Amino acid sequence: MEALTPLIDGGIFAYLNYLVPAKRKEILDILVNGLKRMEYRGYDSAGVGFEGTNTKNGSHELKTIKQKGKVARLQEEIDQTTDLDFEKEYETHIGIAHTRWATHGEPSPTNSHPQRSDTTNEFLVVHNGIITNYKDLKSFLMSKGMEFESETDTEVIVKLVKHISDKHKNSTMSFRELVELTVQQLEGAFSLVFMSSKFPGECVCTRRGSPLVIGVKSKAKLSTDHIPILYSKDHRGFMNPSLHHTDSTTEFHPIGNKEVEYFFASDASAIIEHTNQVIFLEDDDVAAVQNGCLTIHRIKRTLDESTTREVTTIKMEIQQIMKGSYSSFMQKEIFEQPESVVNTMRGRVNFETNQVVLGGIKDFMTEIRRCRRLLFIACGTSYHSAVATRQLMEELTELPVVVELASDFLDRQTPVFRDDVCFFISQSGETADTLMALRYCKQRGALIVGITNTVGSSICRESHCGVHINAGPEIGVASTKAYTSQFISLVMFALVMCEDRISMQNRRKEIIQGLKNLPEQIKNVLKTDEHVHTLAQELYQQKSLLVMGRGYNYATCLEGALKIKELTYMHSEGILAGELKHGPLALVDRAMPVMMVVTRDKVYPKCMNALQQVKARHGNPIVLGNVDDTDTQQQANKYIGVPSTIDCLQGILTIIPMQLLSMHIAQLRGCDVDCPRNLAKSVTVE
Ligand code: M6R
Repeated sequence: MEALTPLIDGGIFAYLNYLVPAKRKEILDILVNGLKRMEYRGYDSAGVGFEGTNTKNGSHELKTIKQKGKVARLQEEIDQTTDLDFEKEYETHIGIAHTRWATHGEPSPTNSHPQRSDTTNEFLVVHNGIITNYKDLKSFLMSKGMEFESETDTEVIVKLVKHISDKHKNSTMSFRELVELTVQQLEGAFSLVFMSSKFPGECVCTRRGSPLVIGVKSKAKLSTDHIPILYSKDHRGFMNPSLHHTDSTTEFHPIGNKEVEYFFASDASAIIEHTNQVIFLEDDDVAAVQNGCLTIHRIKRTLDESTTREVTTIKMEIQQIMKGSYSSFMQKEIFEQPESVVNTMRGRVNFETNQVVLGGIKDFMTEIRRCRRLLFIACGTSYHSAVATRQLMEELTELPVVVELASDFLDRQTPVFRDDVCFFISQSGETADTLMALRYCKQRGALIVGITNTVGSSICRESHCGVHINAGPEIGVASTKAYTSQFISLVMFALVMCEDRISMQNRRKEIIQGLKNLPEQIKNVLKTDEHVHTLAQELYQQKSLLVMGRGYNYATCLEGALKIKELTYMHSEGILAGELKHGPLALVDRAMPVMMVVTRDKVYPKCMNALQQVKARHGNPIVLGNVDDTDTQQQANKYIGVPSTIDCLQGILTIIPMQLLSMHIAQLRGCDVDCPRNLAKSVTVE
């Protein structure tokens, strides 16, 4: 299995304008705004690096402003900087920016990025990821007399580039070549953007195991939609002065050299307001901009690898990542579900003919139908979407279905076979455990199917085939609309699997009809918002909330409890009602807040039995059931009613009040619902 090291979150944003004049104020605004767009990723400090002039000797120099805390604090710091001419115009300029999530050293201006090579700021770097061999590199560099000022692993990178540059000061080595030499010494995971006072207006970036995307904005039509990869010579052995560097690449400028702007970011959502033309870098690509021209290089060429990088047109709209009139991104995303579920089904489900076509996997269906078992592997909410659909999957495919938490799957070194089909479900497509599990299964010859919401993500790229859930950008850390879209994507897959089974046609039609009605029904569920808010007012000072249910609604209990935990910091547990007597019933008394999900499906009598057991222990559960089920309503002190749908889709409607409840409780408790403490949107840490 390919070794994958833990990554951190935070975000990189950089902006290079070539022959496009911009005032310093405008440049800094672009940089800070880019960071704001990635705030959802989780961070604890922020910084910018930009070009300037030394006021004493007039030489070109790099400047940084860094601050602990939110991007708004960085903005204040920039505004208060008195020795900057904000009106100064730059025809060509590079600026880099970063939000940091502390791993090595506490959040502080010194530990924030950009990290610098020396007190003159000859080189600056912003970095996402972790350098695992930084201690060895640090000892080596210290033995060469270099002094370190931060506690970060990142500082070794920029000191190393300076060391190599000093060593080759008499050569004509380019900025990109210096970076190539540097990254060959790094172990771990990273995305990096470098700038240097030696190379004004130039920029070099690279990645290994951490995403990096480049946006291109040019008035002129791009001369190509595929950038050819240029292959450089292996530069290993830089510490041995006897080895000289040569470069096999020929000069080739597919993009740029006229007026052009480049945007570099960890996430396309930070770029989309500037341009929709983007290039997703692959691991070990080194991209460089020199004289406005963008080139992409690789040192080694491996069999089967693509020799170009595509310029992709992304369809994300700026409105999709703005909060609008909503109080939080989470609220916006919950209320978007009537549309996001339509987008998931759009062009895939034909409600007239009852046909379902998943374009991303259709060519692999023969192989999938022949498989020995289906494995669904994911983390957190994405895992719950697999739990939610397991029963239907077993019913419609008649295959063994295994649902696994990625971290546990890896801990066990689970047996995987060539005739297994492994699904990796991930909103971000970057979750480290899920990605590692994918690589583990791929190496064992299984067919890999990705189910993600992020086009161009690592999971997308490394899967053999897959389904984009098309929920649109999910900014709030708590996953909401991605869950319902993952749920629907998995249901659609199960429908495709049984399309030729005559015995299943009636069931298929009922489910497809159920899918058709979902958007309207979700709108009706959202109307319970005020009622749910009232219940939240009764619950928000409690310490705990148990959520019980079984069958198709068990996933709602797990997912509902996860939402409560992550947003409100209250204890919450999703309990399988069938397990009550095996332990959890001991928790129930008149003081313990309990919610029970009881809908009219096959396990309804068993759920009612559980309800009676809870009531017999003086429990006073809030019941989440069908709006037209007056019998059950009479048994409950408090009730939230959702429309009835077919059993296997009911979980899409029961999860929404739980999303609303967790959001309201969190807001009443004064918690930040978009960025809960200690959490990040994309968990790229093992
Ligand atoms: O991006 P992914 O779907 O792979 O993320 C997996 C989990 O980290 C994620 O679902 C997490 O549990 C959510 N923040 C929960 O709301």
